[in-house]
Amino acid sequence: MARMSDLESVFCRTAPWRRFARSHVLPRVLSDDPIGPDVLEIGCGSGAMAAAVLTSRPEVSTLVATDVDPAMVHLASRTLTPHGDRARAQQVDASTLPFADATFDTAASWLMLHHTIAWEAVLAETFRVIRPGGRLVGYDLPDSTRTRFIHAVTRSTVRMIPADDLARELHRIGFSVVEVEPLGLLGAYRFAAVR
Ligand SMILES: C[S@@+](CC[C@H](N)C(=O)[O-])C[C@H]1O[C@@H](n2cnc3c(N)ncnc32)[C@H](O)[C@@H]1O
Repeated sequence: MARMSDLESVFCRTAPWRRFARSHVLPRVLSDDPIGPDVLEIGCGSGAMAAAVLTSRPEVSTLVATDVDPAMVHLASRTLTPHGDRARAQQVDASTLPFADATFDTAASWLMLHHTIAWEAVLAETFRVIRPGGRLVGYDLPDSTRTRFIHAVTRSTVRMIPADDLARELHRIGFSVVEVEPLGLLGAYRFAAVR
């Protein structure tokens, strides 16, 4: 399994990135549709996005913020402390989710799929744990010269996901109402799909 480089890992935790993601990225990725009450986040990093979701979406009663990296889980746990029993952080590999079928209303994936390498398995697992009628939402970076260059510089092992490949795989797994469209920021795309 691929891990982020130290450089990217540090970047993800910086206050400016956390502020930017919270105030500019999240509002563009989430539509106005309700996402709760039960939300899973995969690859939560610092927990900044989970905290922003909890603050902006009172309908969320339980958010499980998960990451494969124990250091990130520790940090996310601290970030989420003010949200009390509405949130918990847990060490989880997104390609083998330790949750029963149909546990969550929404699964969220913010800028993490390309780090998982086995992203098809991750999507299939999210499909399994989302309730019928629930949604997968997220954003990621396209496969481009720029993103390849960035990851070469940061020495991260990644498998970039062309937007068309993502849409095709979501359909193949069984998701409906699949949307994959430009985010209008960072050259990224947002995606959403119904289970
Ligand atoms: C670029 S960071 C994004 C963090 C956070 N989602 C954000 O938007 O700030 C990617 C995160 O995905 C996590 N990750 C990578 N592969 C994973 C996997 N197979 N399962 C769970 N988390 C994973 C990394 O440890 C890292 O915290």
